Amino acid sequence: MDYENGSSVTEFILVGFSGDWQLQIFFFVTFSLIYGATVVGNILIIATVAANSTLRSPMYFLLGNLSFLDMCITTVTTPKMIRDLLAEHKSISLWGCMAQMFFMHLFGGAEMTLLIVMAFDRYVAICKPLHYRTIMSHRLLQSSVLLSWTIGFIHTMSQMVLIVNLPFCGHNIVNNIFCDLPMVIKLACIETKTLELFVIADSGLLSFICFILLLFSYIVILVTVKHKSPGRLSKALSTLSAHIMVVTLFFGPCIFIYAWPFGSFTSNKVLAVFYTVITPVLNPVIYTLRNLEMKKAMRKLWIQQVSFM
Ligand SMILES: *[C@@H]1O[C@H](CO)[C@@H](O)[C@H](O)[C@H]1NC(C)=O
Repeated sequence: MDYENGSSVTEFILVGFSGDWQLQIFFFVTFSLIYGATVVGNILIIATVAANSTLRSPMYFLLGNLSFLDMCITTVTTPKMIRDLLAEHKSISLWGCMAQMFFMHLFGGAEMTLLIVMAFDRYVAICKPLHYRTIMSHRLLQSSVLLSWTIGFIHTMSQMVLIVNLPFCGHNIVNNIFCDLPMVIKLACIETKTLELFVIADSGLLSFICFILLLFSYIVILVTVKHKSPGRLSKALSTLSAHIMVVTLFFGPCIFIYAWPFGSFTSNKVLAVFYTVITPVLNPVIYTLRNLEMKKAMRKLWIQQVSFM
């Protein structure tokens, strides 16, 4: 493509889900319901954690933070995707596209780090129960939440400083449900092989390392429980299987999309739906509704609200 002669691109076309209108309506209704459930579910968790003095345990602060991040992640992409399902002209401005990539990787990087902190929290709770309160001090919690945002910020900035200066001059069709790095880089009208490798190393490696660290921590927890108190193994297994499910649903698609050589999975919309639409609604279900204490607190909050009205 001739960069010198090309006119510069000011907007991208987000293809999203195409198909006949019945299918579009079906997607519209389904994704609207899932998005609504994600927002309501996560706000409910944040409100419950904030309002309830019995939920002052470190785990709940982390859960509250995870819910907040989940809501942010899905809000970056889902409302726009839902609106575009019924739109004639499915476009996004150049800066809208940049903003989607920036926030996606900011929140995504923060969430990956937070999931590791949560795994550490479970490790201490299960393997060193007597020292739980001393180790998971309020200060450690605050620093780890701050750390997760810092890592998210460094991660996204490291990529965005290279992306914002890319020249776009010809093709502007993004064959996905939101602007994501691999697809957008491919549209630039200069040679981007080095940049592609950098993104694979940055996003791909980050997801891969976090995933391995998480799996490793779950194995350490299970092995410790098996040696120390074999009677509690089945309970630990049921708690951790929920975590492992969430982590696999979130990291699996990320690893496929970023760590694979560009091309084979980059435009896979089903994978994209998994980590931007499905995981954020599953987190509250998996981490919370199986948790008796949380359910009790929610019921209490609900009764308080009703008695106020
Ligand atoms: C996130 O974690 C911090 C630090 O522990 C805590 O103060 C804050 O309340 C948490 N946020 C939510 C929404 O639970």
